Order: sequence, then structure tokens, then C-alpha cells
Amino acid sequence: MSPTRTVQLQANGVEYTAETETRTTLADFVRRQCGLTGTHLGCEHGVCGTCTVLVDGAAVRSCLMLAVQADGCEVTTIEGLVDASDPGNPVLGPVQQAFADAMSFQCGFCTPGIIMSTVAWLAQRPADADEPSDAEIREFLAGTLCRCTGYTSIVEGVRLAAQRSSGGP
Ligand code: FES
Ligand code: FES
Repeated sequence: MSPTRTVQLQANGVEYTAETETRTTLADFVRRQCGLTGTHLGCEHGVCGTCTVLVDGAAVRSCLMLAVQADGCEVTTIEGLVDASDPGNPVLGPVQQAFADAMSFQCGFCTPGIIMSTVAWLAQRPADADEPSDAEIREFLAGTLCRCTGYTSIVEGVRLAAQRSSGGP
């Protein structure tokens, strides 16, 4: 048993406190201690991006970050993008909806990580930026792997999300 420490963080606006081994990754913490299993684990080596979450607004590969490093932070996972203010009528976040509309997934395993990466990527683009080119989108996506390899529809989903974020249809 490795040493333990108390970790307290906010995930999707809810506070979680748990005693956890210091070697526990943030990915395991959000899945096991917070029950947020929408964060998927692929390579567990920082390569695929499947486990991406936002920590204080920045995209982070949660398989590479220790839970103790996120102590006191605000974490957003794929579940946190949904507007659940009306429990009977949850509404997908804009990037989630764009991916659904563009059918940007096959098995969907990589989808949460790619959506979280897209949310962070769009947030750091200037509000008056031109629509991203195919090359820009593909360069951004180079850090995320889809084992179903349906990249064309993923590019379309990112493009649609970018259009909508700047007031497009
Ligand atoms: S599971 Fe974290 S980068 Fe692949
Ligand atoms: S949709 Fe299957 S891994 Fe990407």
C-alpha cells in the first residue's frame, strides 16, 4: 500500500473528498471516487487523449496527472458539459450536440476525450477567428487517436462546433 492523502476537488460543480493513494491518477479518481465513468482510458500513457478532462479550464490527460495534483482544482468531465438544470430535460453542450449532429463517432470510445479537447481548443481561439481550415482541425486532432479511424466525421464535428461557437448555424 502506498502512502495516502486526502484529495478534495470539484468535479462538474460537485465537491468530492476522498482519501486516496498518492499514486492514484486523476483519471482513476474521477472514475472511481466521483463515479464519472464518461472519462475513458485508452493507452494510459498520455498518447491517445481519450482520458482528457479540463482542470481549471485547461485540457489535461488525466492518465498522466495524479489526483493529488488536482487537489483544490475544478475538474470538468464530459458529464459536466450537459445542462442538467432541468433534470427532466437534460440538454447536450454545444460541442456534444455538434458531434451528434455530424455523427462524429463510431464506437464512441474516444469521443469524450476528443470533445473535451475540442471544448478547450475552441475556448482559446480568438472570438473573431476565421472558421478553422481542414489543416488546422487536423493538426489540432493530431494529439487524439480514434481506433475506429473515422476522422473525416470527427473533422466535420469540430468544424460544426467551431461554426456554432462563432454564431453559425
Ligand atoms: S488514456 Fe490518457 S492519453 Fe491515452
Ligand atoms: S469512435 Fe471508436 S475509437 Fe473513436
